Amino acid sequence: MSTQYERPPESAADWTVPQDWARYTADEHAMWDRLFARQSAMLPGRVTPAFLEGLDVLRMTKPGIPDFDELSERLMKKTGWQVVAVPGLVPDDVFFDHLANRRFVAGRFIRTPDQIDYLQEPDVFHDVFGHVPLLAHPAFADYMQAYGQGGLRSLGFGALHKLARLYWYTVEFGLIRDGDDLKLYGAGIVSSYGESRFALEDASPNRIAFDLIRLMRTDYRIDDYQQSYFVIDSFEDLLRQTMETDFAPLYAALETMDDLAPDAILAEDRVLTRGTQAHAKVALSS
Ligand SMILES: [Fe+2]
Repeated sequence: MSTQYERPPESAADWTVPQDWARYTADEHAMWDRLFARQSAMLPGRVTPAFLEGLDVLRMTKPGIPDFDELSERLMKKTGWQVVAVPGLVPDDVFFDHLANRRFVAGRFIRTPDQIDYLQEPDVFHDVFGHVPLLAHPAFADYMQAYGQGGLRSLGFGALHKLARLYWYTVEFGLIRDGDDLKLYGAGIVSSYGESRFALEDASPNRIAFDLIRLMRTDYRIDDYQQSYFVIDSFEDLLRQTMETDFAPLYAALETMDDLAPDAILAEDRVLTRGTQAHAKVALSS
């Protein structure tokens, strides 16, 4: 999401471009297969069962990077979502409008071998492997649409910065309760080999029960693993809280509150894990 990008001349008015599946090289498909095998081996037992069920949507008739047309056809049957290609980051209003119309925008390039564990811009592996499986889950699919609709409204309140934290701490880096256990569901985590273990098993980060206002006050890290993860009870509960909240007074209230540091813990937080922040301290001192 960003507003400083010029629309490339080859893209349509809604910024979409053809995926051009036939143009991928054998090496690019092999990179997808390698990442897919690595993540799908490590995620069972760590990721929410809904993600593993949704992963079946990605098992295409052709190996390698999914063909978005085939993917959309499958997803459409399940929850009415489609996947469309974009050339890179798109402006906020364009991004929200796609979500509000149940279209997920995905990058079409794939990382190179030297970027296997870290890259700055989301590639097709992050966007499709990370995000698409949960779009096959009805409540999560509705949540993503509601987020897009809320995003369009937030532009009128100058509150995008606050709302972006909701996306960050749920869609990208969310954890979910599973009985007495925690499981992964955020796309930024499940598409990352390192963070899939860190988010769940490392002593460093805080794990705090989801609280909408609290979370929308909290800054986040874009350059390293998160210092706090927020834990939802269920996708149904996340959807319900989002739908039942009147965001206009919430944005007004947030204006009167201080932002919180990524590692902050408040007296009223329901803390599941008080992190040592050892990872962040090492990173900051190096
Ligand atoms: Fe993402």
